[in-house]
Amino acid sequence: MKSSDINPYDYRQPDYPIDPFILRRWSPRAMNGEVIDRKSLMTLFEAARWAPSSGNAQNWHYFFALNPSSEFDLFYSFLDEGNQAWCHRAGALIVVVDQTISATGRLINPHAFNVGLSVENLLLQSWAMGLLAHPMTGFNAETAKAQLNLPETWLPLAMIAVGHFGEISELSEKNQAREFPKGRKPISETVHEGPLMPEN
Ligand SMILES: Cc1cc2nc3c(=O)[nH]c(=O)nc-3n(C[C@H](O)[C@H](O)[C@H](O)COP(=O)(O)O)c2cc1C
Repeated sequence: MKSSDINPYDYRQPDYPIDPFILRRWSPRAMNGEVIDRKSLMTLFEAARWAPSSGNAQNWHYFFALNPSSEFDLFYSFLDEGNQAWCHRAGALIVVVDQTISATGRLINPHAFNVGLSVENLLLQSWAMGLLAHPMTGFNAETAKAQLNLPETWLPLAMIAVGHFGEISELSEKNQAREFPKGRKPISETVHEGPLMPEN
């Protein structure tokens, strides 16, 4: 069984009706190791490109490596052990970089927020194309920054594994046990009408 055979509605229900497209995206780990073709990858970056950003700063940068290649091995080496355990079957690895200062020397505010919006576009586009995309912060950002020759003010924020869906049974036991769409806190915990009430 592949993670694409899982019905997210068996695991998650919205408190209020939303477009099913949003609810169907999740972060599986089971991939089959097939390469991602360059055009499909560019379509993901195209989706990322159209995200909104403060002052239209577009301060995201995407570095990618296709599997197999020496660059893929390099990107893979940035990942922590937990992520390496399943990312060897990715078709591509991406490092998401946040450019914090503009070309004119101004602090881009809020720089990380802009990059996050762009990444969600990429994740949703990937799902729409039947490709798995899984964001990760379990990697060594300092090593990535040095190895990618990034300027001081460009910060690696996350990596993304992109792949074709694979068999869940090929994951480690630990990862098989967590291969399902996660739920969410009730909307009442995170949505507030007006100010917070002072505690008595
Ligand atoms: C910024 C960020 C960092 C994450 N880092 C990792 C990671 O290092 N390894 C991993 O397996 N999953 C990682 N995840 C995936 C989250 O665990 C996952 O998105 C969350 O549990 C919600 O599940 P869902 O994406 O399936 O809805 C990360 C997600 C985000 C947004």
